[in-house]
Amino acid sequence: AKSEPLRIMISGAPASGKGTQCELITQKYGLVHIAAGDLLRAEVAAGTENGRRAKEFMEKGKLVPDEIVVMMVKERLSQPDSLENGWLLDGYPRSSSQAIALKEYGFQPDLFILLEVSEEILVERVVGRRLDPVTGKIYHLKYSPPESEEIAARLTQRFDDTEEKVKLRLRTHHQNVEAVLSMYEDITVKVNGNASMQEVFEQIDNALTEFIEHREAIPGSV
Ligand code: AP5
Repeated sequence: AKSEPLRIMISGAPASGKGTQCELITQKYGLVHIAAGDLLRAEVAAGTENGRRAKEFMEKGKLVPDEIVVMMVKERLSQPDSLENGWLLDGYPRSSSQAIALKEYGFQPDLFILLEVSEEILVERVVGRRLDPVTGKIYHLKYSPPESEEIAARLTQRFDDTEEKVKLRLRTHHQNVEAVLSMYEDITVKVNGNASMQEVFEQIDNALTEFIEHREAIPGSV
């Protein structure tokens, strides 16, 4: 029989490497990657009313109000692919009210991964980040440069990826992280995110493998 789908949350400061690790995790585990920031940027790009409102908060590095974010994430989690293959929720919840709302809708994670990265590294990662609008892949000018001139020429930068904006996002993160963590204490896995992308992935991969082995060995234990 097909094993029970995994449900994972990944959290960390801006530019701590959530999106990068999510690419690696989905490649190996086949989970559906749901990134709150990506869902919001899609709304902004589509020019919807929610997108227009969301952008005002995103530009200030503040949390977008729950009435926009909660339903958006809940609807994505309720799609058949997420229910069937399991999910990897990135950048949500960012407040206790978001965590409570999700729980009320019946979505509980198996593990809560927290990427821990020092502040000076975060700023360097944000400023050098570039995105490929064609493939959606995340690059870094120094740590993960584009593979060809053709890709390099089409890379874009996010509107909130400046040193000034990341400091605002970081402040919001510090204001909220403890409240969210306290709700998932018993299932939190802290990962040292200062290391290379591959080394960070090894830590996450080990935690996921261990969780799956434990669950298979003692059914109903977790
Ligand atoms: P969101 O899009 O979630 O942004 P964020 O949390 O600031 O995180 P980032 O996407 O900037 O970084 P990341 O951790 O994914 O890092 P990445 O892998 O790209 O949110 C944006 C905004 O939307 C928020 O400010 C808020 O306004 C709103 N929002 C989102 N969710 C919300 C919610 N739930 N409620 C309310 N509002 C919400 O890596 C960064 C760079 O570093 C890349 O260039 C990468 O190549 C490089 N890199 C990654 N790992 C390594 C490594 N190990 N070594 C060297 N370089 C690395």
